[in-house]
Amino acid sequence: MMSRPAKSIHGEWTTRWAFILAATGAAVGLGNIWKFPYITGEYGGGAFVLVYLACIVVIGVPVMMAEVLIGRRGRQNPMNSLEDLSTEAGVNPVWRYLGAMGVLAGFLILSYYSVVAGQAMAYVFRTFGGTFEGVTADGAANIYRSLIHDPEKLLAWHTLFMVITMIIVSRGVQRGLEKSVRFMMPALFVILVMLVGYASNTGTHFTDGLKFLFRPDFSEMTRLGFLTAMGHAFFTLSLGMGAIMVYGSYLPKKTSIIKVSLTISALDTSVALLAAIAIFPIVFANGMSPGAGPGLIFETLPIAFGHMAGGTFFGGMFFLLLVFAAWSSAIALIEPTVTWMVENHGLSRLTACLYAGIITWALGLLTVFSFNIGSGWTLWDKTAFQLLDYLTANIMLPLGGLLIAIFAGWMMRETHTQEELAIESPLLFKLWRFLVRYVTPAAIVIIFANLLGLIG
Ligand code: PHE
Ligand code: NA
Repeated sequence: MMSRPAKSIHGEWTTRWAFILAATGAAVGLGNIWKFPYITGEYGGGAFVLVYLACIVVIGVPVMMAEVLIGRRGRQNPMNSLEDLSTEAGVNPVWRYLGAMGVLAGFLILSYYSVVAGQAMAYVFRTFGGTFEGVTADGAANIYRSLIHDPEKLLAWHTLFMVITMIIVSRGVQRGLEKSVRFMMPALFVILVMLVGYASNTGTHFTDGLKFLFRPDFSEMTRLGFLTAMGHAFFTLSLGMGAIMVYGSYLPKKTSIIKVSLTISALDTSVALLAAIAIFPIVFANGMSPGAGPGLIFETLPIAFGHMAGGTFFGGMFFLLLVFAAWSSAIALIEPTVTWMVENHGLSRLTACLYAGIITWALGLLTVFSFNIGSGWTLWDKTAFQLLDYLTANIMLPLGGLLIAIFAGWMMRETHTQEELAIESPLLFKLWRFLVRYVTPAAIVIIFANLLGLIG
């Protein structure tokens, strides 16, 4: 058995809050504010939201606890931790390739994440510059189109986002992250609440928005809707690819894994719901389509900022905070790759960042072009961006999560997981173990099988 350090060689979070802040920074991002509203719109609202919430509880929270515990017990990058814990449990070390899949998923996600974050960056300047003052729905849609239809602009913003991300990552994960998240999250929350305030002034459209989100109509739910809701539960909590495992490896021994997991999941879910509650009344008040797709936030929120008091300032701040939230998620997406290159291939952190950054940036070109000159390059009827999103969020993350649940529930010894989780109530530990052994894997398998038409 490899000798396992008591502490990660990268150091340790100083407090429980440091971990919660970093993991919340990883969780809260474009997934909550950009992706959740537009997929909710595309898949018909209430029923989709309900399935998504159920997935957070039944799949997300137990898998998050499993990831944190594996990371903390293994104390290295996901590949080494999994190999080491396999040896400890007397099972085949082939489990390390689960970590490898995570590294790959992180790469692929960051390649398109960066392009969308670039769009948010462009909107910081447009909003502060007063572009949206008094804007109409058509006007906002045109401004968005002129951005994404221009490959040069998208490329420039994508490049800028990647360069800054890799500079931050090359300087190490803990420094600065904690402080920025501590300021950024509450500020983002406040502006979201202001937006909900604006939305609540749209009268009946506000209630229409709430009904759309919270009155489930299962006749609207498709097989793909179930898969997308589950995939998004993984995506939004940053699960299934080792990011939370890496962060868990810096977690001090005495911290309660169940408390931190519940806190992070609750914070992430509330940001997503607030964003959706702000956006849909604006959609209905302006006669727009809920299924407008990936441009939804860029076409709706500027209308609110263009008409509310102080909208230019708060709008600019909002997009700026969104970019910061995207950075703290981007760092988590690339961190497993960088720690792996450093720990296993002896690269310096700087060189690792350079390689990782260049490959991700180049792959991002596919997404840049899929909004304009490459919109006709399709496979199975999907653009490169849609394919990357589908492959990662709907397949790789849930598959990773399934294997993580099986590893923690069936491969590791019960006494070891119990020791790590140190849940005071034996009943609660039993509940987690029951979920992670039976319920979580079954739910994931049923949703996959349902999609393939094997059941139902
Ligand atoms: N959770 C992030 C979001 O919702 C995306 C992410 C996925 C980050 C996987 C890290 C790992 O925006
Ligand atoms: Na999220």
